Amino acid sequence: MRKSSLWCVLRWLGLVLAAALAFPAAVQAQIPGLAPTVRPMNMPYPVQQPLNKDGVHDPANPGIKMLQEPREGLSKLPKDYPGNGVHWVKALREGIIQPRTNILPGTEIKVLDLDILLTNTGEMPLVLFPHRQHTEWLDCSNCHERIFASKKGGTKGLSMFAVLQGEFCGQCHGAVAFPLTECNRCHSQQRK
Ligand code: HEC
Ligand code: HEC
Ligand code: HEC
Repeated sequence: MRKSSLWCVLRWLGLVLAAALAFPAAVQAQIPGLAPTVRPMNMPYPVQQPLNKDGVHDPANPGIKMLQEPREGLSKLPKDYPGNGVHWVKALREGIIQPRTNILPGTEIKVLDLDILLTNTGEMPLVLFPHRQHTEWLDCSNCHERIFASKKGGTKGLSMFAVLQGEFCGQCHGAVAFPLTECNRCHSQQRK
């Protein structure tokens, strides 16, 4: 227990340091209505590795030739700095991709335009959680009531520490959504 919490503190300090290093040399790209993105100056956008060099696929397997190269599919989408180099929210918003919304015909598609301000952020800017951008990808039941209460302030135990341990926002961010090093995409609202 002690060892793992020390590791978490170290990991958190590492993230804070990485953020402090990235911030002074950052360019801010504000897309109206979307979370702010910061790309460290002169840092190239990530390049999608060829399948035979990505360390995941077996280069000797002839089946590899049947797969589309990620670069071919992804390089035409709006660019982003972290992750796989694609700004997925923008790609969806601009209609560049049109993922299928449901498998079963009876599934009801609900997009909720409701911003939630999470204010327990210490010295950091407040966190703005946008329902709209999330429900364009996800169903209410992906979060409610298992991860979050559907009542403002009703989620017990929510903190950065828990998020860094892969709970709450951390169940997706750093796994299938932009990583936790992008502090200002969540902490986007200056205190008045
Ligand atoms: C069930 C998965 C999931 C959880 C939990 C989750 N997110 Fe997200 N979030 C996503 C996905 C998917 C995207 C879109 C892809 C991306 O931007 O990487 C996203 C995008 C965002 C964006 C960017 C929106 C934009 O305009 O570009 C913000 C800000 C955000 N999430 C904040 C949060 C915060 C804060 C929490 C916790 C209170 C949270 N998310 C919890 C999946 C999740
Ligand atoms: C995916 C969204 C997300 C990202 C990215 C994120 N945070 Fe947070 N942060 C949160 C949420 C949610 C809270 C809790 C807010 C609440 O409970 O009102 C929080 C709270 C905090 C707090 C308050 C103290 C605490 O432990 O809760 C600090 C400090 C903090 N974050 C620092 C950071 C730093 C530094 C980074 C970048 C390295 C970062 N955060 C990245 C969502 C995020
Ligand atoms: C990615 C996760 C996520 C998804 C998906 C999601 N929510 Fe939420 N929702 C949250 C978070 C985080 C909060 C704030 C919880 C807190 O403050 O403790 C919240 C709060 C709420 C609230 C409380 C608002 C208030 O002012 O008290 C309602 C109502 C709600 N959600 C409804 C929905 C509905 C309806 C859907 C589907 C259309 C949905 N949510 C989808 C994460 C999500």
